[in-house]
Parts: sequence; C-alpha cells; structure tokens
Amino acid sequence: LLLLVLEQSLCYGQPANFNSTMSNIRRFPDFFMWGIGTSAYQIEGGWNADGKGESIWDYMVHKSPAKILDNTNGDVSTDSYHQWQRDVQMVKDLHVGTYRFSIAWTRILPNGFIHNVSQAGIDYYNNLIDELLKYNIKPMVTIYHWDMPQRLQELGGWTNPEIIPIFKEYARLVIETFGDRVKLWTTLNEPWHVCEYGYGVDYMAPAYNYPGIPSYLCAHNMLKAHAEVVHMYRDEYQERMGGRIGITMDSAWHEPKNSDSVEDHEASERTMQFYLGWFAHPIFSKFGNYPKVMIKRIRALSKQQGFGSRSRLPEFTPEEIQRIKGTADFFGINHYTSYLVTPNDANNTGNFPIPSWNHDMDVINTQEGVDWPTSGSKWLRVYPKGMYNLLMWIHREYDAPNIIVTENGVSDRGGLEDYARVDYHNHYLSAVLDAIEDGANVMGYIGWSLMDSFEWKVGYAEKFGLYHVNFSSPERTRTPKISAKVFANICKTNALDW
Ligand code: NOJ
Repeated sequence: LLLLVLEQSLCYGQPANFNSTMSNIRRFPDFFMWGIGTSAYQIEGGWNADGKGESIWDYMVHKSPAKILDNTNGDVSTDSYHQWQRDVQMVKDLHVGTYRFSIAWTRILPNGFIHNVSQAGIDYYNNLIDELLKYNIKPMVTIYHWDMPQRLQELGGWTNPEIIPIFKEYARLVIETFGDRVKLWTTLNEPWHVCEYGYGVDYMAPAYNYPGIPSYLCAHNMLKAHAEVVHMYRDEYQERMGGRIGITMDSAWHEPKNSDSVEDHEASERTMQFYLGWFAHPIFSKFGNYPKVMIKRIRALSKQQGFGSRSRLPEFTPEEIQRIKGTADFFGINHYTSYLVTPNDANNTGNFPIPSWNHDMDVINTQEGVDWPTSGSKWLRVYPKGMYNLLMWIHREYDAPNIIVTENGVSDRGGLEDYARVDYHNHYLSAVLDAIEDGANVMGYIGWSLMDSFEWKVGYAEKFGLYHVNFSSPERTRTPKISAKVFANICKTNALDW
C-alpha cells in the first residue's frame, strides 16, 4: 500500500513529503517531450562556406559592426557548420528526445529564390538530421529563425506581400527534402521580435527605424505566409509524412504593477494582447483576426494622426481570417522573463516616437523596483511565477491548446559552475508542472540553449548555453557546465528532484 501511495503521489506530481530531509520529486507526464535548442545564425558559422548566400544578419554585421555590442559577428561562431557531429553527441548526452534547430535559408537557397538550390546546404542538414536519428533524437526544425536572404530584403523583406509565395516555395523545398525524417516543424520563430525589433525600431536586422507601420505590415505578411505553409503541409504532405506543424511565438508575462488597480490589470491585459495576441489571436482564437483591443485602438489613433479611415493596422478580409484561423497543431511559446505594467498616464511616446506599436499600446512596462533575481542580460529578471501565469493565460485565452515551451533559459556572463542556471530551470520547470496540474496542456519543454553562441545584438557577452564554448580555441571546444548534468538528469528521469 505504501508503495502504491508513493507511486501515485509521484505520478500526480505531489511532493513525496515523508520527512523533511527527503527531496521533493515531481514527475512530468509520461508523454512529456524534452528538448534543447539552437538557431542557425547563432551557431553555424561558415557564413559564406560552399556557396552560402548573404542573409540580413551577415549583411548588417559586416556593414555596421558597431551595431553589435562587442563588435563581433556570426562568421565563425561555434563553427557548427563543421562541428555538427560533436553537437549531436552533446544533445545525446543531455538525454533529450528532441533537438530544435533552424535552417539557414541562404545555405540552401543562396539568394532566397528557388531556382538556385545549393546541394552543399542540403547535404549539411541531411547529415545533421541523419546523425540525430542515429541516436534516436527527433529533429524539430524551425523554418525561419531571423535570417532573411539579403536579396529578398532588398525587395522589402517581410513588408512586401511577394514574400508570401517566396517563403512558401522555400518551405516546400525544406519539407520535401527533409520531411521524410522531420516530424516536428515550426514555421516562424518569434515574429514579434522579427517585426517590432527588425522593422519598428533600429535594433535587430534589418534594423529599419520606421515605427508604427512596417512592423504591422511585417506581421500581416508573416501570418499569411505561416498560414500558407501550414495549409500546404496539411493538404499535400501531412497524411503521408505524419508530422506536426506549428509556430513559435514569444512573450514575457505582463503582470499588473499594482494588483489592486483595475487600470493596471487592464494595461497588463492590453499588453498581452498587443504582444502575444497580435500573432496568436489570428491563429488560435476561435474568432480569428487581430485582438479587438488592437483593432480599436490603432484605428482611433490612426484617425487622430490624419490617416482618415485607414488604420495603420492592416485589415484581413473575412476569407483571410478563415484561412489563418486554426493553422497550428501546437502552440509554441518562448518565455524568459516578466514585466510590471501600468498605463502610460502621460500618454507620451513611450520609448519611441509616434506612431509606434509601443505608443499604440499605451503602457509602461518595467522591471524597476522588482526584487526578482538578475541574470547576465539586462532585460532578463528571474520570476518563475510568470511562466505559470503565462501558460495559464494561454490555456484560458485560446481554449486549452497543446502548448510546447519551445524556449526557456537564462543568461550569465560565463563559467562552468552555473548554479544560477540550475536554479532557474528548476524553478521554471516547477512552474510548468504547476500549470500542468492546473489543467494547461503543456506537451513539452525545450531548453535554451545547447551551448553558448552568438546572442544577436550583444554578441558573445551573454551566455545561454548548457555547454560552455571556448571561442578563442580554433576547435571551439565545448565543455558541459553543471547545468548540463542537472538538465540531463531531469530529462532522463522525467522528473524534478531538488
Ligand atoms: C529568443 C530567440 O529565439 C533566441 O534566438 C535568443 O538567443 C533567445 N531568445 C535569448 O535571447
């Protein structure tokens, strides 16, 4: 009987609290998927190897090196273009069942268009996928993780609707080539970052600085492109290939600054809708389309700003709303941190000049005054409850979708004894378990990241890896940190024990 009770308490995730010196073991559901992630530009290097074409990141870091904090770039990075076998060994040692990586568009289509396919690029991903399968690790492929071909950027990138059929052709090639072995696809990674930080403000490539319009155009085209790829997969490949396809969005948790304030609650809900709802509502809400609050506010502001009856937020036709709605087999969410939110009473321009997304939303988002632990990144404060709140928000808002946490992790400034990272994963995973116990359908968790790599704007200063990489050795030697060992144990046992 005692064994039965013990087993049940373990299965249902209750702490086995027999005495105070015993650790708390909490189990994940049997089906739970464990993974670890990377993205092409951040790790591959080989930026022009074997005919690879130039992406917007290659272009930006070469043209304006000062845009990267430490003046570095991803030209060599962790050299995964050559070290992929070592990478697979590391993934294997983590005992994860899934490796999430992205395909560099310009490695297989050097100028982005379908008429010029690079066999060397195809070979690279074929080898990687086959090597993973050799060890029974399932590849999860991100089709677009921020590296638009520069040639296509010259046509306007995501702001030009022509990108929709072009992206679909690229995705078709990828699915046809790798889909016999890849059973888990995500079309786009973090469209919010692509659109707001790429087109709204001069931050990520292509670093447009034209707030308030191009970012909305970008999102509009990304959503349509995503939907077209999912329809294509479902109509032509899914039955035969038997895989699943979804999208990866990102969101911080936006918490009311003052929990007693109705205005702060409204502001935090508004922020969730402007941030996550912008992309999730058209796909996952039963009504489709952008969140009402976005449509209403941006229309009203556009009028005031002299746009007449035209809203800066583009409109979907009823057919487009139907076409986009429901185009995901799972809800992929990347989550790292939280903010406190309050209305922007001064109605000033927030961080950016008007008209901007930030102004349209009209809130102040802050981490000032919180006592949440800090990390290696200014923007990343540790608040595990935010993970729970976010998962439950998604669960309620979109009618209990199947969620995959496609990224979660923390940065530091280096070192193998990364106890803060161990703590972070333990606490955030515990919050995931709390959400599962409260009904959220969380199917899996993919840690970020396999190893230290090129962290976009901040170069190599902020490290997210479970493996340390020695960037001054030509071999880019990799060494497991303490967190790699702890994470491996969590994945192996399918349980938290701390
Ligand atoms: C999300 C992005 O997808 C990834 O590329 C990045 O490294 C992490 N956030 C950490 O900032």
